[in-house]
Amino acid sequence: MILVVGGAGYIGSHVVKELIRRGNEVVVLDNLTTGHKQAIDKEAIFIKGNLGNKQDVSLIFEKYPVKAVMHFAANSLVSESVVNPLKYYLNNVVATFTLLETMLEYGIKKFIFSSTAATYGIPEQIPITEMTPTKPINPYGQSKLMVEQIVKDCAIAYSLEYTILRYFNAAGADETGTIGENHNPETHLIPIVLQHLQGQRKRISIFGTDYSTYDGTCIRDYIHVTDLAKAHILALDAMLISKGNIHRTYNLGNGQGYSVRDIIRKCEEITGRKANIHYAERRTGDPAILIASSANIERELGWQPSYRLEDIIKTAWNWHKNHPHGYEKGSVRGSYTYES
Ligand code: UFG
Repeated sequence: MILVVGGAGYIGSHVVKELIRRGNEVVVLDNLTTGHKQAIDKEAIFIKGNLGNKQDVSLIFEKYPVKAVMHFAANSLVSESVVNPLKYYLNNVVATFTLLETMLEYGIKKFIFSSTAATYGIPEQIPITEMTPTKPINPYGQSKLMVEQIVKDCAIAYSLEYTILRYFNAAGADETGTIGENHNPETHLIPIVLQHLQGQRKRISIFGTDYSTYDGTCIRDYIHVTDLAKAHILALDAMLISKGNIHRTYNLGNGQGYSVRDIIRKCEEITGRKANIHYAERRTGDPAILIASSANIERELGWQPSYRLEDIIKTAWNWHKNHPHGYEKGSVRGSYTYES
């Protein structure tokens, strides 16, 4: 049995789907503040509760033979973290403390943790490797880095095994079109562009056109959520057979950068619709370029991304077309119309 904390969220729900697809038994713990119950695979056991509540977590360990824990639950809005850092330190750091403490009490010592490119801040080198210095520039990135440190200290003191995965820009949706990206509010570029092209937003704002990049807009490394999910499965398999010696941190990206203008152009091409673009000021805290080197996970776990930008946007569009209001009532669910 695998415990997936935050399994109702965007990335967590895709990992749950992959785990179920290959026959794992899964229990999901989620408080549904940002996640969606409809996103959780029907074959997973769902417990509504908080990872920061010792009783909620203990009950799961009492009842189910959990072998490993995957932890996706977090607040992840950079701008919100700047104005409300205590929320981020409480929900991302303090709550994880309780989860870890309870795991250790029950002798559960295999932990996979969702971290982020935001731990690097404004990187000194591109592509970013795991050796690139971590210097977060906002409380969100800081909160993730703090948890990384706690996890590493627990490894030394209590023989916790861990795999930390630092995601770059997760995007796209499961090929079945049944689950996808549905944040409220939505701040990410690809869903915002697709919502606009669907008529749900009047225009798209490009935040900054004066960066030192080939077209003046920020460059990011977009990675398909199913490729992320598959990396978790590889990490899990390595941990399930290990004899207590897995302590790993990996970047996860495609290794290719696309500018904001590239993304808008590709979305226009795939949807056959024209965007109304508004040029806006830079958004605070956006590094000009974030591109990952995922060479370590490729070499050590044999991970390879299988979706390129075209398919990332196609699967996202498939989800948005069929769920114009996300998981809300009235959405069309269960479509299987993705074509590569
Ligand atoms: N952007 C726009 N207009 C929009 C939305 C985004 O121009 O309406 C731009 C942003 O300024 C940025 C790029 O599109 O240059 C990508 O923005 P996203 O918000 O989609 O993603 P970020 O790169 O800001 O965020 C990602 C993760 C965060 C993580 C961060 C690290 O989603 O969790 O990388 O910097 F913290």
